[in-house]
Amino acid sequence: MTGKIRADLLVINANQMCTLRGPKRPRVKDELRHLGTVPKAAVAMEAGKIVAVGSTEELKNKVDRRFVEVLDASGMTILPGFVDPHTHALFYGSREDEFAMKIQGTSYMDILRDGGGIMRTMVATRNATKSQLASTLTSRLTNMMRYGTTTVEVKSGYGLNTRDELKMLEVIKDVDRRHPMTVVPTFLGAHVVPPEFKDQADQYIELIINDMLPKIEERKLAKFCDVFCEKEVFDTVQSRRLLTKAKEHGLVPKLHIDEIEDIGGVGVAVDVGAVSVEHLVVTSKANMARLAEKCIIGTLLPGTPYVMMDDKHPNARALIELGVPVALGTDMNPNCWTESMQMVASLACTQLRMTPEEVITASTINAAYAIGLGDKVGSIELGKLGDLVLLDAPNFMHLPYRFGTNQAKVVIKSGKVAVDRRPDAERK
Ligand code: NIG
Ligand code: FE
Repeated sequence: MTGKIRADLLVINANQMCTLRGPKRPRVKDELRHLGTVPKAAVAMEAGKIVAVGSTEELKNKVDRRFVEVLDASGMTILPGFVDPHTHALFYGSREDEFAMKIQGTSYMDILRDGGGIMRTMVATRNATKSQLASTLTSRLTNMMRYGTTTVEVKSGYGLNTRDELKMLEVIKDVDRRHPMTVVPTFLGAHVVPPEFKDQADQYIELIINDMLPKIEERKLAKFCDVFCEKEVFDTVQSRRLLTKAKEHGLVPKLHIDEIEDIGGVGVAVDVGAVSVEHLVVTSKANMARLAEKCIIGTLLPGTPYVMMDDKHPNARALIELGVPVALGTDMNPNCWTESMQMVASLACTQLRMTPEEVITASTINAAYAIGLGDKVGSIELGKLGDLVLLDAPNFMHLPYRFGTNQAKVVIKSGKVAVDRRPDAERK
């Protein structure tokens, strides 16, 4: 016995490390600016988890150096791996022509009304095989990890019938087993009303309740149930009924609300005890205060207004000042196709006026709480998964400051190097 800590990977000499240590709950107001920064930092991991955190000098003494692989992070900044708490990353096909139409001024809802948008992706996804879907999701997760994401939520919602919604959730579960990424599945059967139920949204909700939810519960296919609660999609009565039933089947409620119009989604979120609400582009201050009171996380998706090209953004400053715990996500989908939380960080600063500190908290620990994993990931603390991103940057401010290039040099997932973009000479 040496009395030293046993580790299989020790990262040393980082110029700076943001631990995000703090209260074991989503961070609010000024707490969003507390990154728990350590200079000349080191972190040790064993069997996938973090076993020591501190200065390089301290850990060099504390850690048993006999079995350990040492990674020199000189000149780099360590952050917790990004947590992307809102994606529709499983879909088939693409919609680049709709992007061109939006440039010309056609709106997202006009495209959807004409059978494009989600409807079109539904057709492509229904027609795709499980293996085609699995390979697209796998390559997207790999891309996300190259950009520093180590945990991601993925929604269904392009099947829109029992067979194809279950197919999507099974693919998500299957890919999660085989990919190093931690994947959290969300059931979004209520994404839009499918053509078979045109003008019969109530009947479609009953199909979800009576047929899909029991099967999802039985096969343990999802952790959350989401709904697109929006004008011309699902109203508040339908959303409330669905989420109340989803809870009886063990799913935790989430909602897409206030993206285009406020139809009362916050009231539903409060009543059903949602963990998070997403988009919040047109949310009133009175409703922000209600979210804050219930500690419902507001997940902001600045990529979406960016590709909508209509200059309407969520009021992140008011959300933070009123005490809503704010998270950030990509919303990765065929309308808003980005796999990069680094891009989201840039947009959150330039478009939402969040500070770099707030952006990092919202992309790590708060995002982890938004998908029920706040006790496992999102900060660099003892006992958490060894999920880290090593930025090719001297301090965390570079993350949103430099945009359009990949700053993730090394990504460590569950204590193992998953991505290494260092030139050979640096790898020793
Ligand atoms: O969150 N708004 C609804 N759902 C997605 C978009 C999905 C799509 O356009 O394919 C969103 O932005
Ligand atoms: Fe979404």
